[in-house]
This record gives sequence, C-alpha cells and structure tokens, in this order.
Amino acid sequence: MRPPIAIIGGTGLDALDTLSLPRQETLATPYGELSSPLLHGELGGRPVVFLARHGQRHTLPPHKINYRANLWALHRVGVRQVIAVAAVGGIRQDMAPGVLAFPDQLIDYTWGRPCTFFEDDSSEVTHIDFSEPYSPALRERLIQDARALQLDARESCTYAAMQGPRLETAAEVRKLERDGCDIVGMTGMPEAALARELGLRYAACAVVANWAAGKVAGEITMAEIERNLVAGMARVKRLLARAIPALDEPPC
Ligand code: HPA
Repeated sequence: MRPPIAIIGGTGLDALDTLSLPRQETLATPYGELSSPLLHGELGGRPVVFLARHGQRHTLPPHKINYRANLWALHRVGVRQVIAVAAVGGIRQDMAPGVLAFPDQLIDYTWGRPCTFFEDDSSEVTHIDFSEPYSPALRERLIQDARALQLDARESCTYAAMQGPRLETAAEVRKLERDGCDIVGMTGMPEAALARELGLRYAACAVVANWAAGKVAGEITMAEIERNLVAGMARVKRLLARAIPALDEPPC
C-alpha cells in the first residue's frame, strides 16, 4: 500500500468531509498528545491522513499546539508528504481575502515553542538545511493543479509566522512588510521545520482570510475571517481532490 499523504487542516478546515472510508486512530507519542486523533481515509483512491491542527472542536490556540507530537505521529504512520492548510492575513497588495497562496519562504517570529526533535542530551547537534523551507516539488504540484482549476492563487510569497493568538498591530504589519513578508499567520512554525527534521516533504496552502491589520480601515472581525474561509476552504478541497490522487512518491 502507498504511504498516506497528510493533510493538516487549520482554521476553517477542522474536518475533511470529502474523505471516504474514514477511520480514526488515537496515538500516544513521546512528546505528549497530538491536536486530534488521526483520521485515515481515501481521497480519489489514495490513502490520506487528516489532522485537525487546532483540535476537532477548534480549542487549541496556535502557541499551545503540540507541533512535535503532530509531526511525530504523522511520520510514525508512514507519511512522507504533508500538505499544510492554514488561514492567513494578506499583506501584499494582491493578497486579497479569498485568494490561495503557496509560500516559498518564511520568517519565524514565534517564541517559546518547542521547535526541534534534536534536543535530547544524547542526540548530536543537528543543523538541518532550511534554505528552502517548503518542498519545491510538492509546491510545484499544487501550483500546477491550482492553475488547471483556474483558482485565484499566488505562486510565490513569504509567510510571516507570528506568535498570536492576538492579531497584529498595524505597526507590526508595516514592519513585516519592510521585512519582505506577504502573508501573516500563526501556525507555520515550528511545523515546517519539524517536518524537515523528519525528512518529510512539506508544502503550505494558505487561504487569505482577511486583510492584515492596518491594511484597510476598521477592525478585523472573526465573522469576516469565517466568511472568507468558507469560500476559501471550498477551493482548497477542490484542489486537494485533484492534487492528491496524482501526487508522485518522493524518492527514498
Ligand atoms: N494575522 C495572523 N494570523 C492570521 C490572520 C492575521 O491577520 N488572519 C488569519 N490568521
């Protein structure tokens, strides 16, 4: 049987109703509890495992997510490729709510999150290469499929990983912009780095839920975010349905 493809669902995608033959698995990990049980199933005949990053009832804020347990568990069940779905705020002018974005770079502004598997006294100091934080091969596949489906998508951008759970100030967003960031979210790190430490192919599919703070007049409301995510996640599901059955296997 082919290894399952992992989908980590973020805000707006706490469940994946398009999975056929769903079966739930609860796993213990050396790092503690994962965000949710693993949901095994199939998408277009391909084995898939879905994990709700914020929990099945969306109870875990970004800084409380056990990223290590999540990635460890996915690796344990044989996953070699991870598609990380996440809601973000739009900074760059063309990052309007509803757009899909496939980041190719990130800047990590998070702090205090357990961020490596290489910290036991017994393990050697290991410095992974992270020049390209997202798998170019997996990104390319997703981008090709987004093009084929004529989805409104941005193919190159830099993701700012912020600590949250509060949203940013307008001045913070101006600083992120000066730093070269195009979209802003709260869960992209250490998730991407942990995936790399485990040798997994990892790519993100971000859905722009709102203009980042200060980009338009007025407050950012959860109602606005949720409204935009409903439409955005429907596009993500179409993309997954096309992309997953056709994904190749990474070389061993
Ligand atoms: N900032 C950070 N994370 C987010 C945002 C935002 O504006 N929108 C959705 N997730």
